[in-house]
Amino acid sequence: MSEQILLVEDDSGVRTTIATCLELEGFNVEAVSSTRDALERLNANGYPLVISDIYIDDRTGLDVLAEAKRRNPSCAVILMTARGTMETVMAATRNGAFDYLAEPFELDTLIESVRRAINSRSGEDEDAESEELPESEMIGSSAAMVDIYKTVSRVAPTDATVLIEGETGTGKELIARMIHRFSMRSVHPFVPVDCGSIPPALLESELFGAVRGAFTGADRDRIGVFEAANRGTVFLDEIGDIDGAFQLRLLRFLQEREIRPVGSPREKKVDVRVVAATNRDVRKLVDDNRFREDLWFRLSVVRLTVPPLRERRSDIPPLTHFFLNKYNGRYNRNVKVTESGVRALRDFTWPGNVRQLQHLVERLTILTPQDRIDAEAVEDAISAMDSHEGGGETLAETEADQIRRVLAATGGNKSRAAQILGIERKTLYRKLERMKL
Ligand SMILES: Nc1ncnc2c1ncn2[C@@H]1O[C@H](COP(=O)(O)OP(=O)(O)OP(=O)(O)O)[C@@H](O)[C@H]1O
Ligand SMILES: [Mg+2]
Repeated sequence: MSEQILLVEDDSGVRTTIATCLELEGFNVEAVSSTRDALERLNANGYPLVISDIYIDDRTGLDVLAEAKRRNPSCAVILMTARGTMETVMAATRNGAFDYLAEPFELDTLIESVRRAINSRSGEDEDAESEELPESEMIGSSAAMVDIYKTVSRVAPTDATVLIEGETGTGKELIARMIHRFSMRSVHPFVPVDCGSIPPALLESELFGAVRGAFTGADRDRIGVFEAANRGTVFLDEIGDIDGAFQLRLLRFLQEREIRPVGSPREKKVDVRVVAATNRDVRKLVDDNRFREDLWFRLSVVRLTVPPLRERRSDIPPLTHFFLNKYNGRYNRNVKVTESGVRALRDFTWPGNVRQLQHLVERLTILTPQDRIDAEAVEDAISAMDSHEGGGETLAETEADQIRRVLAATGGNKSRAAQILGIERKTLYRKLERMKL
């Protein structure tokens, strides 16, 4: 039987040309001209292959892509556009598009892409399902995330030092990896260093290396991260935690791009790009004289601020489906989330951000008895789950805490508090009831 293809294209001339051409090749094409029709069809029918224009109407081919993947994760989606930019290419690949065609393209190119998509599905379906999705996949198309993708696509190919700021679990490391992946350095190493967890005394030798005998225990030469990552990217995580002496060392390095291993008389040139991240407010550390301003300038040639999840709630449903799909695969489950379940997840404040959502979905995937996650299941899981990030507090406590603080700040004004918390007023009332406030 021939494969059913959904074609989404608002330009009737292009639509007819492509549909006719594919039908002549023996494919079975269903063509629609709006995203609304496309989403409706997708909802009713999991297509194996979707071809969509990107700029269609008030929604885009990226929405079509998301829905197609949600409905059928192994669906191959080919996106095309005449107004392609690096951003759209990245958004497309990041969200799992199979191919991306910049118009004008030859119809042969499209047919070839369609054939490849179909072959990859029939030949490698099993592999594709058992294979872990690469950790570098970034989900989310909120305005804030799109801004981040744009910046990433602009700065990735340059050697600019980047400082990524954001609360814990917002995806800073993932973004750093993306910057590396979309740079010329991608074939070279990406080396993360958690500056917060390495004792200050060891940080220097860890990064710059040390020669034999430089200090007690240094019984051989030790290559530092900057040298090991030569031509690649070094990701300095928790940069706000480094002490004054090391701040100075790092500043020198960023100026000279030279390393001198501990105990060595000689400097060596290395070629690495530095991406740093912090969940602390470095500007404030600078103001308090706890972080060198000159280093801060050097690090933040480009600054990226990742907003907390509660400030981009539209990312919660796609992230939920993404993680659900991942853990259903991993734990061999077939758990679904109901609309009320998605709403409950959307309404939570997520102090631990995406990581917390990920853990919660993982837990729910394993524990949900009826293969259905509804609002009640979500709320139970939230109350039951200990926040590993929140210093032993439960998520419910952390959230309750946040609600109390906002209510105090608004003088008890619940509408205002709901607005600040980014939830509906009736959701706040429900939460207050649960908190017995
Ligand atoms: N947009 C996203 N799409 C998919 N997964 C995400 C996204 N953002 C974060 N994650 C996942 O959430 C988890 C936490 O992300 P990451 O480690 O990048 O956060 P972080 O900001 O570095 O946190 P921390 O400050 O605690 O180190 C990871 O498993 C990551 O893969
Ligand atoms: Mg991190």
